[in-house]
Amino acid sequence: MDQIAKYDTWSASEHYERYMGRWSREIADQFLRWLDPKPELDWLELGCGTGALSSATLRLCSPRFIMITDFSDDFLNHTKHVISDPRAKFEIADAQALPFPDAQFDLAVSGLTLNFVPDRHLALSEMQRVTRPGGTIAFYVWDYPGGGMGVIDAFWSAAKALKPAASELDEARRFPFCTSEGLTNLCTASGLRDVTTTALETETVFPDFEAFWHPFTLGTGPAPGYGSTLSEAELAALKQAVRHIVGQDGPIRLPARAWAVRAN
Ligand SMILES: C[S@@+](CC[C@H](N)C(=O)[O-])C[C@H]1O[C@@H](n2cnc3c(N)ncnc32)[C@H](O)[C@@H]1O
Repeated sequence: MDQIAKYDTWSASEHYERYMGRWSREIADQFLRWLDPKPELDWLELGCGTGALSSATLRLCSPRFIMITDFSDDFLNHTKHVISDPRAKFEIADAQALPFPDAQFDLAVSGLTLNFVPDRHLALSEMQRVTRPGGTIAFYVWDYPGGGMGVIDAFWSAAKALKPAASELDEARRFPFCTSEGLTNLCTASGLRDVTTTALETETVFPDFEAFWHPFTLGTGPAPGYGSTLSEAELAALKQAVRHIVGQDGPIRLPARAWAVRAN
């Protein structure tokens, strides 16, 4: 694991849910409405996390079955525990080496995961390999370079102002390809065809600053992972700097925009 990715802690499901899963749930519904799949298809999901996209698929898309995967035992077990639908199957899988035969699924999907996979080309070609000819490969990622995840943007803006070295951890810098053009190029270079993208938008709303800040203290995900490496005094200074950016009175509302991609 490289020095930057070591902060991408993927465990402690309840903490992830507070930090990001709840916003992914809102985007998942929009993503599936945009995808508009036929019923009774065989689905594969990569990087299920706490099950935002898996649950939405079962609720909205009438799959024949969905194979739900993640490389984290902790997340997969959590999702297994919360989804009792008989159409759901579960397996540990690294997106870069899927343990499935060729052409086994009609759709391979993923939410907020592809950017974290070290070899994204390999992950996309694996998705294509296990998808039947004429099937669909589709995913969504936050619009990090466009400041589309306002919560994360505020955190890194403050962190970089206090410690310039934090800039290399900022997801906007780590994942510059998370734009419509960048993702189209990534898919095309990975051998996918007929690539289309769309923006999906929601709003993250917190009743007050403490509710906004709390998920950053839980250690799960890149920004909270970075926060957990700071001293108490450094974390207090960071909290103060973030408060200065987002404001401290009343509800905090920030935009959240993801890019959705579909291809064959
Ligand atoms: C930001 S979370 C997204 C979780 C969920 N899909 C959502 O939308 O909330 C990223 C997920 O990708 C998983 N992940 C990261 N790298 C992976 C890899 N190489 N193979 C499979 N899963 C991976 C993590 O364990 C984590 O569950």
